[in-house]
Amino acid sequence: MCGIIGYTGSRPSAPILVEGLRRLEYRGYDSAGVAILDPGRTPLTVVTRCEGKIAMLAAKLEAEPVTGTSGIGHTRWATHGRPCEANAHPQRAGRVCVVHNGIIENHAKQRAGLIERGRVFMSETDTEVVAHLIDEIYDSAAGDRAAGDRAAGNGGAGDLAAAVREAISRLDGAYALCVVHDEHPGQLVAARHASPLLIGLGGAQGQLDLEETFVASDVAAILEHTRTVVDLDDGDIAVVDPSGILQLLDAEGRPAKRGRRRIEWSPLAAEKQGFKHFMLKEIFEQPRAVRDTLSGRLPQFRGSDAQAQDSLDFADLSGIDFATLADHHKITMLACGTSWHAALAGKYLVEQLARIPVEVDLASEFRYREPIVRAGDLVLAISQSGETADTKAALQEAQRLGAVGLAICNVVDSSIARAADHVLYTHAGPEISVASTKAFTTQLTMLTMFAVHLGRRTGALEAERANALLDGLREMPVAIDAVLGVQAAIKIIARRWVAARDWLYLGRGLSFPVALEGALKLKEISYVHAEGYASGEMKHGPIALIDENVPVVVLALEGPGYHKTLSNLEEVRSRGGKIIAVASSGDDQIGDLADDVILVPRVDPFLQPILASVPLQLLAYHIADLKGTDVDQPRNLAKSVTVE
Ligand code: M6R
Repeated sequence: MCGIIGYTGSRPSAPILVEGLRRLEYRGYDSAGVAILDPGRTPLTVVTRCEGKIAMLAAKLEAEPVTGTSGIGHTRWATHGRPCEANAHPQRAGRVCVVHNGIIENHAKQRAGLIERGRVFMSETDTEVVAHLIDEIYDSAAGDRAAGDRAAGNGGAGDLAAAVREAISRLDGAYALCVVHDEHPGQLVAARHASPLLIGLGGAQGQLDLEETFVASDVAAILEHTRTVVDLDDGDIAVVDPSGILQLLDAEGRPAKRGRRRIEWSPLAAEKQGFKHFMLKEIFEQPRAVRDTLSGRLPQFRGSDAQAQDSLDFADLSGIDFATLADHHKITMLACGTSWHAALAGKYLVEQLARIPVEVDLASEFRYREPIVRAGDLVLAISQSGETADTKAALQEAQRLGAVGLAICNVVDSSIARAADHVLYTHAGPEISVASTKAFTTQLTMLTMFAVHLGRRTGALEAERANALLDGLREMPVAIDAVLGVQAAIKIIARRWVAARDWLYLGRGLSFPVALEGALKLKEISYVHAEGYASGEMKHGPIALIDENVPVVVLALEGPGYHKTLSNLEEVRSRGGKIIAVASSGDDQIGDLADDVILVPRVDPFLQPILASVPLQLLAYHIADLKGTDVDQPRNLAKSVTVE
């Protein structure tokens, strides 16, 4: 999501931090900042931040230079609090400055406690909570040390690593942190939990005979200075200075050793973390992205008498009152492209789990067809970018007619997010590839949670069933990982079918939108003709297309409609069609009917769309890659369609 860099050495830190941030800009780009320990200043640490791109930060530092040979920097992709200078990192509290990647789930509770204890907040971020906690703990430990000891130099500065350790023991969620303190010039404290962070040991490549050490959320930031890195493990806290790692403690607070790794990637490959394309990187980011969508939003439902409590956790991150949402008699979902496919899946989910009727409209059609919207209807706009012109205009048209507007967006504070009355952010992180992948699976994840919460509100969903679905969502990142593990087999299938000019994708029920999405992925990046159909529609036309040259991708997952899908497979086979089936692991019938089978872990049928999308993304990716197309920027397409 965001990007972190830290530097301590003998060179001026500002240009190193800014260049590192430039290399991380692809990760997030709504605001940026640095905190540099400048020996000529009081307080020692000078914070420079701005909204916008790194170039603006560079210009600000040029206009108001800061000297100093250690510091931290951050490029932000907003999760808590809109993009603006006050919400940019580093966040300062007292003598502590912090940069942070990730989401602190219990930030609201911690913030309330800190305010009660007299702390004043300057931003809307969860990160400022971390800075205050560290500063508070550090100062109270300092207060415990005898003033005389300190004056005599016996006590010296406090133990910053201990303060960081105590602070993070009070945090829930994911974080990679880099911390500096006025009393510790030349030192950086790095800590991670469920968000990557590494230490770069300087003087590599023989270019520079310098003592210097780096901290970075990803190697791209530091590759021009060093190729020797130490990856921190979850729970690790490291203290570094120019000579290297002074102290490294594991999650239990025991001294730990982590191996060194030599990076051979070029800087460009490093931005893609070694993946050939951003699309592939984003496909592989899905376990993390789905985890972030779920983060802080998975309560345990209780019996029907406790419904009033059910949505509190979910609402905590969104400010949405599900009690009122469930009062709407009809929901209209509006979106374009991949997000429209997510909306189609959302219809199945909300109607079946919450028994609220849902209409799904292409945003471009809705706005011009004099839609029937009544005051108080709920309209849900779904958009990765939050900038799609048709979706925004359709949402606004519905609001004009009296609807309440809810948005599911990835980009925080985007136009659609701002236009809506309420927003649910997916927190997928920046999606660079034009072909949407992690945005889709996180939208499906959000829609599933949304339907479950609504189902509890309407009473259509038993607590036990709701909990089982949320448990399934909790396990989804691991299940996606398992699908990513069969990439090599999917590549072999791609090689077999790379020359095909026409493809059919078939799915039933919740697999129908997945079939549409699979076909769209293939079309947009490989430029071959692909059609998605509801399996039951095959006999009504598309069956005429089938011959031995048309691969038919069939979503044949176990659950409702499975046996009907097997009949469809027979129909394709008897016409000489070639079948690539996506099936549930353990299915021992499918191999007799399909030419190629991709097995995915068994999950609840309501959760299958998230999982089944992944092999179709990989199939499309490998076909396009074999064809040598411009995978990340396919011809004629733009990432956000901000015009009609
Ligand atoms: O940013 P949005 O979700 O509103 O974008 C909608 C479509 O333009 C987008 O999903 C498009 O179809 C993608 N290229 C699909 O991969």
